[in-house]
Amino acid sequence: MKVNGKHFKTIWLDGTDVLMIDQNKLPFEFTIHTCADYSSTCRAIIDMTVRGAGAIGAAAGFGMAQAFMAGEDPLMARAQILNTRPTARDLFYAVEKVYAAGLKSPELAKTASQQIAWENEEAGKTIGIYGNELIKPGARILTHCNAGWLAFVDYGSALAPIYAAAASGKKIHVYADETRPRGQGARLTAWELANENIPHTIIPDNAGALLMSKGMVDLVIVGADRIAANGDTANKIGTFEKAIAAHYFNIPFYVAAPVSTIDMNTGSGKDIIIEERSQDEVLWQTGTDRHGQLHTVNIANPGSPAWNPAFDVTPEGLITGIITEKGILKTIDNLKELL
Ligand code: MRU
Repeated sequence: MKVNGKHFKTIWLDGTDVLMIDQNKLPFEFTIHTCADYSSTCRAIIDMTVRGAGAIGAAAGFGMAQAFMAGEDPLMARAQILNTRPTARDLFYAVEKVYAAGLKSPELAKTASQQIAWENEEAGKTIGIYGNELIKPGARILTHCNAGWLAFVDYGSALAPIYAAAASGKKIHVYADETRPRGQGARLTAWELANENIPHTIIPDNAGALLMSKGMVDLVIVGADRIAANGDTANKIGTFEKAIAAHYFNIPFYVAAPVSTIDMNTGSGKDIIIEERSQDEVLWQTGTDRHGQLHTVNIANPGSPAWNPAFDVTPEGLITGIITEKGILKTIDNLKELL
């Protein structure tokens, strides 16, 4: 997608370096971060310089290729990369594919990592085309977290249909949940939508049900980090509540994700590992003051502890359909017919 008229991808491989947009600095600063070896790529995944299920999948694949290209111990590198973040399936998918290719040759590891990144981008484009069919002119769409192009190599998952709808001339309005504690909705989704001139409003995380009760939401589209074999879906913490509210108000609730996010080896949501992150993310916030100066400030009672689960699981019964690059699935069983 474009930033100030110039096309960027979220992450790419340049020789043996992995380059990525620094998502911790957005929306206040647009900078490119370079990881010269696989350990730096691991650090960038852990500290969320790169984040979003598809983007960390690409990062993990590139990191695995970096290890092979540098002649590092591939088993150690594989373990280190798999240990960065536990929930997003794309990370595991990418590492295993590149690892298998790298056992044949470092060059094949590099090619496999680039192929994964390309497929991730193409999937987003096609998800946009299918998802656009669900969006009526004038639609008001609620989304949670950031499942836009920053969460992938390009295009995104939940935001891809929104970009396709806007490009096809439909007038739409997007409500972006702020997505505490890291603010992916308020910081990243809003930044993406503003770049594309798509009308949008940031809402507090706890305003979704009120908005729905007022008849102001026609459709909910969210992304996914891992979809279990029965269709239960892990996504950013707070998604489950939105699904319950949408069900209550009879509003369609769609998950958008590439097929690589579906994990047929995980039976149900109960088997999905939910990442828990530092309590500092809840207790402290970073932002700019009115003069543009960046500060990190304490926003809670000093000394009180916090709990910070990064994801929750929406049961498949609350999901109207899954928008994939193979088509829109009513249930996971439909996927078996499409593959
Ligand atoms: O910001 P993260 O990496 O913690 O969040 C992961 C996600 O990207 C979201 O849950 C998103 O909605 C999934 S779609 C890529």
